[in-house]
Amino acid sequence: MDTIDPSKIKKIAINTGGGDAPGLNAVIRAATLAALRQGWEVYGIRHGYRGLLDSKYLIQLTKDRVRGITHLGGTILGTANKGDPFNFPMEGKNGIEMVDISDRAVENFRKLKFDALITIGGDGSHRIAHSFIQKGMPIIGVPKTIDNDMIGTDVTFGFDTAVTTATDAIDKLHSTAESHERVMVVEVMGRYAGWLALNSGLAGSAHAILIPEIPFDIEKVCEKIYSREAAGRHYSIVVCAEGAYPKNGGLIVQDENIIGRREPLLGGVAKYVEKEIARITGKETRSLVLGHLQRGGSPSSFDRLLGLRFGAAAIQTLLEGKINVMVALDPPIVKTIPIEDVIKGMKSVPLDCDSIHVARYLGVSLGD
Ligand code: F6P
Repeated sequence: MDTIDPSKIKKIAINTGGGDAPGLNAVIRAATLAALRQGWEVYGIRHGYRGLLDSKYLIQLTKDRVRGITHLGGTILGTANKGDPFNFPMEGKNGIEMVDISDRAVENFRKLKFDALITIGGDGSHRIAHSFIQKGMPIIGVPKTIDNDMIGTDVTFGFDTAVTTATDAIDKLHSTAESHERVMVVEVMGRYAGWLALNSGLAGSAHAILIPEIPFDIEKVCEKIYSREAAGRHYSIVVCAEGAYPKNGGLIVQDENIIGRREPLLGGVAKYVEKEIARITGKETRSLVLGHLQRGGSPSSFDRLLGLRFGAAAIQTLLEGKINVMVALDPPIVKTIPIEDVIKGMKSVPLDCDSIHVARYLGVSLGD
């Protein structure tokens, strides 16, 4: 395990990377207050790593600066999901070129006399963190994402709030779907994992839930709609994860190549499902995409508490002399795991998990 002498720590930095998630500010507050208590100086690096490239994006985090932010959505530090210093878009002779400016970031980190970085992010941010660790930067990771797709932690903060937001939306669709005797198809986020769709779909009493882990057969979804019709229920709610895809087709993406971004932008599966259901069943069908609504708003009390626990645990980890690990929830405790293990894969919904069984017992169609 990589170590640091805690008695030598004087100054740390905190950044937030990737898509925002409710609970980020709770982590920033807890980590800042815990570090200030040790007599350390704390700086926030604004917009991912930009503050390491240009000091105007650095802000000192004081007790006052982190006052009253636990309940706020977003991040007071700003974030970016295309500012990877190892693959940074810059204006070159032939237009935008991708360059590796990581050495400059490491040099500035040292010049600024930072002893460690607390990086709060998802798998992309932890991948960047791992590359910086190879260059000698001491890092503690904190797992964030509404997708809940990070391995090593039971849950990421932000997920609970997003599930609640999506569930509220699904709840509201029942009355309009029933009044108009329509099928409503709702697309939720989650990237390549079905956690958000499965949990909000179950909690919101959806009749079909489509997740990336189970490529769907649209005919099976229509069978569910027909069986409801036969039982006198003339409306249905279908929840689709944005990463769900038909058994005989591929992933549906909005934008494949966004400069400076590793991943394609997913989206559009609900429209596809809407059209197919209308074509096959002849029923009036509508779709909607919940989109970034799921990332917004005040964090739930669960996410606030988890954020505060993770923030405090990040500092506790440094005090124990450990670095290059991510804090993780392993109920009832917060533990640490090496960042190199976190980036080995993603956490999908296991097909034999309890929630999948619940869906099947409830008669919810999973499209298979
Ligand atoms: O990872 C979080 C997430 O909200 C995903 O669920 C979604 O696919 C993606 O980010 C959207 O990214 P952007 O904010 O760039 O639209």
